[in-house]
Parts: sequence; structure tokens; C-alpha cells
Amino acid sequence: MATSKKSGGSAKKPAKKAAAKKPAAKKAAVKKTSAKKAASKKAAPKKVAVKKAAPVKAAPAGVAVGEPHPGAQEPRRRDFINIAAVSFAGVGAATVVIPLVSQMSASADVLALSSIEVDVSAIEPGQSIKTVWRKQPIFIRNLTDKEIAEANDVDVSSLRDPQTLEERTQPGKENWLITLGVCTHLGCVPLGAAAGEIKGEYGGYFCPCHGSQFDTAARIRKGPAPTNLEVPEEITFKSDTIVQIG
Ligand code: FES
Repeated sequence: MATSKKSGGSAKKPAKKAAAKKPAAKKAAVKKTSAKKAASKKAAPKKVAVKKAAPVKAAPAGVAVGEPHPGAQEPRRRDFINIAAVSFAGVGAATVVIPLVSQMSASADVLALSSIEVDVSAIEPGQSIKTVWRKQPIFIRNLTDKEIAEANDVDVSSLRDPQTLEERTQPGKENWLITLGVCTHLGCVPLGAAAGEIKGEYGGYFCPCHGSQFDTAARIRKGPAPTNLEVPEEITFKSDTIVQIG
């Protein structure tokens, strides 16, 4: 019986020890857990510090250390580029507009040709000459009495471009017919002003391009030309023999 008690007592001891050890393990586990929590609590600020440091990036290749970050200067550079582009556009517009304006203003030689004076003393009745005014041919014709009569005999209302000879010449100078030598159809120079040239069916001018015929007052009588040969607006007789055109 005694043996059984001893053996029974020795069997209980390890159980007690184990029971005693268990709290220790729990304590160790608690310590580990608290240590981990403490470690995690301590590590938390480190993560925040890493997040704050995130915007700092390594300088790209070609950028010297110590220079401001390229991204920080980008808006300023764009502003500069925009301003520079606008400035250059302004300068470009000025450089284009100024030559245009200067080209539009008449040069000295053009101004000199804006008006011409012609001595008509050598032009006999029935003759005509060609001259140039503002780079266009001009016909100056000294009409004979017969040619004046033929022009005045026409029924003006029957004309495509109704005008009297009087309306196409200067007061008191009805014999001097001065017109542009440009056909009003497509701009050919009609025949009839130079000696020996065909004067057409109506004794004035003939445009061989499409067959327009003009009478002795240079009015369109036949063919496709829509209007009479044009009479320059500014004709002034400075004397009996000098006429200014323009
Ligand atoms: S250009 Fe004179 S008739 Fe055509």
C-alpha cells in the first residue's frame, strides 16, 4: 500500500510541474506578444517616415545633384515657352505686316507714272498714237470731222453701253478721244491705233481675240465685249497741245 502511495505521489509531481510550467509559457508567450506589439508600435513611426520621404526621388540622368527637381520647374518652363512663343509670334506678325504695308505704299517710280503729260501737237486728224499710263496702253486719237459726225449719228439708245461722244471727251475737245487700249472682254489690246492697223467695221478699233468691233467713239458695236473702251476719269488739257492723264 505504501508503494502504491509513493508511486501515486511521484506521478502527480510532473503534472504539478507541468502545471507550474504552463503559466511560465503563457507568460513567455504574453511577453513575446507584448514585445511584438511594442516592436510594431516602435516600427510604426518608421513607416510614416518612409512615406514622407517618398517624394524625394533620385535625380534623373543628366541632372546634377543639388539642382531643383525637374518636375518642380516644369510649369515655369511652360510659361516661359508660352511667353516666348507669343513674343516670337508678335515679332513675326510685325515682320510680315511691315513689308506688306511698305509694299502696298506706292514707290517713287509708280507715283511718277500715276500721271503723264502728252504733247499731242504732232497727231494729225485721223491719226492716233499709243502710249502707256499706269502700265496700261492708252489710245489718243484725233478724230476727223467725218468720224465725229459718224459717232454723233448713232442712236445712243441702241448701244450696248449707251454713251455719247460728248460724254466720252472733254468739253471743247470733242476731236480728242482718249481711251484705255484694253478690250473690255478679256483684256486684249485692240487694233486700230497704229498706222495701217485694221479699224474694223465701224471705223474705230477691232479686237482680233474674239472679234469685238468698236466705232469712232470707241463704243462697242459688235462682238463679245460688254462695254465701251474705258475713258480715264482724270484727263486735263493743260493747253491746246498738252494733255495730262491721271
Ligand atoms: S478680248 Fe477682245 S474680243 Fe475678246
